[in-house]
Amino acid sequence: MGRVSGKVALITGGARGQGAAHARRLCEEGAKVIITDVRDDDGRALACSLGEAASYLSLDVSAEAGWKRVMGAIQEGPGRLDVLVNNAGIAVMAGLEDTDAALMERTFRVNQLGVFLGIKHASMLMKASGGGSIINVSSIAAVRSNPRFIAYTASKWAVRGLSKAAALALAPEQIRVNTIFPGIIDTPMLTDAAPTLDVSAFGAANTPLGRVGQPHDVAEAILFLASDDSRFITGAEIAVDGGVTA
Ligand SMILES: NC(=O)c1ccc[n+]([C@@H]2O[C@H](COP(=O)([O-])OP(=O)(O)OC[C@H]3O[C@@H](n4cnc5c(N)ncnc54)[C@H](O)[C@@H]3O)[C@@H](O)[C@H]2O)c1
Repeated sequence: MGRVSGKVALITGGARGQGAAHARRLCEEGAKVIITDVRDDDGRALACSLGEAASYLSLDVSAEAGWKRVMGAIQEGPGRLDVLVNNAGIAVMAGLEDTDAALMERTFRVNQLGVFLGIKHASMLMKASGGGSIINVSSIAAVRSNPRFIAYTASKWAVRGLSKAAALALAPEQIRVNTIFPGIIDTPMLTDAAPTLDVSAFGAANTPLGRVGQPHDVAEAILFLASDDSRFITGAEIAVDGGVTA
């Protein structure tokens, strides 16, 4: 028996980076995983490589109609949802002077509104099956602010507040809501934001444990929160950051 056998899990932004690692790990431990993203080719290829336990659905997390479509497909397919990993995110490097209203709105639509819509729509399905686990991916930028990422930092702090309020709102339904703060993790997000960055060297120099984080480091915490091992944990915040926020 795997640690999440029999559970149905939906992962947003699951086509690459950390989300892909979460999909892989949850599949290994027996879950049925629905990978969603806007990178359809990558998402479909990943689902194919994971076999029958995985499937792919296109979902822009900032569009409510997409959430309704995906929830409809889950109702008609597996018929239940046990785990939601709100992982999709964007990060544009821009300080205060370079951040305009359009960048603030774009970042909030994905990083904040997307998490809200996920909580809202997934919790309706979870209520019907007696509970569930929602895992919101925030960032160390929501513990230590980063002035070079104004919109990103603001959106990830907002995820903290939303997670806490949702944890209290959904506790009576036995739906747990927890937040993960990844540290410096070796994914395309970092090289997209800063193309010349040596991610390994930067991670090693700025992480107390002396190395950059890997997506599978974060996947272990996601697995724990998805599984019944964390059955009495809600409203919690777990840093998976090699000590950065210590
Ligand atoms: N990499 C890091 O160092 C780091 C640190 C802290 C937090 N995080 C957070 O971890 C999460 C995963 O990021 P990652 O590092 O794997 O980066 P990534 O860029 O590799 O993955 C992000 C995924 O989100 C998807 N996405 C973007 N906009 C979307 C939208 N509108 N709808 C659906 N999917 C969308 C992308 O297509 C991509 O597959 C993000 O929330 C990110 O903010 C990353």
